[in-house]
Amino acid sequence: MSGLFITLEGPEGAGKSTNRDYLATRFREQGIDVVLTREPGGTPLAERIREILLAPSDELMASDTELLLMFAARAQHIDQVIRPALERGCVVICDRFTDATYAYQGGGRGLSHQRIAVLEDFVQGALRPDMTLVFDLPVEVGLARAAERGCLDRFEQEGMAFFEAVRQTYLQRAAEHPQRYRIVDAAKPLQDVQQSLDQLLPELLVLTRG
Ligand SMILES: Nc1ncnc2c1ncn2[C@@H]1O[C@H](COP(=O)(O)OP(=O)(O)OP(=O)(O)O)[C@@H](O)[C@H]1O
Ligand SMILES: [Mg+2]
Repeated sequence: MSGLFITLEGPEGAGKSTNRDYLATRFREQGIDVVLTREPGGTPLAERIREILLAPSDELMASDTELLLMFAARAQHIDQVIRPALERGCVVICDRFTDATYAYQGGGRGLSHQRIAVLEDFVQGALRPDMTLVFDLPVEVGLARAAERGCLDRFEQEGMAFFEAVRQTYLQRAAEHPQRYRIVDAAKPLQDVQQSLDQLLPELLVLTRG
């Protein structure tokens, strides 16, 4: 595969969706084909699974059900969108991917790393992001931003301990594999965050040409 697979990660309200569009613009200015997508979702079927995952419900969703739905959506997304785009040589920028599963279903829900790794290998084969940008900020800052959007989804209704575990899982994964992750200080004003992204751009452009 000749494209470049970039994922944007981080807790609620960190600015992933906001900065996804900014990054895409920077790549397109260089004449690079960009596919913007998100998880869970990214295809009509995967978006239907997303609705199931995010909708608050009276029936408690078992953690394994949540994990399997995440990977069911991911299998569809990889098959229909991500692999074909990478094969065409595009830069794929994906708002959340499997690091989010380790952070939310692993760190947050307490499922074991090994359990998730089995599904990661099963669904993705050798496919891993080439670069992952972790938008990091204090939990309460992100939640306050997310709350301004209105009603809370099933994950956003979790408590502080859940989101603290999510944040720490992201930071731990980034520390373990520094070559694949870049941490962006997402607590700063948007202009400063975008300046940080501009500083990362040269090394991302080198990867697209590699
Ligand atoms: N650096 C920033 N400073 C202040 N507000 C910001 C910043 N970045 C994003 N926002 C605002 O915070 C809100 C959440 O941003 P965004 O939707 O991009 O976050 P997200 O990481 O995609 O969240 P989620 O995980 O819930 O999808 C938006 O209203 C956005 O305009
Ligand atoms: Mg978002």
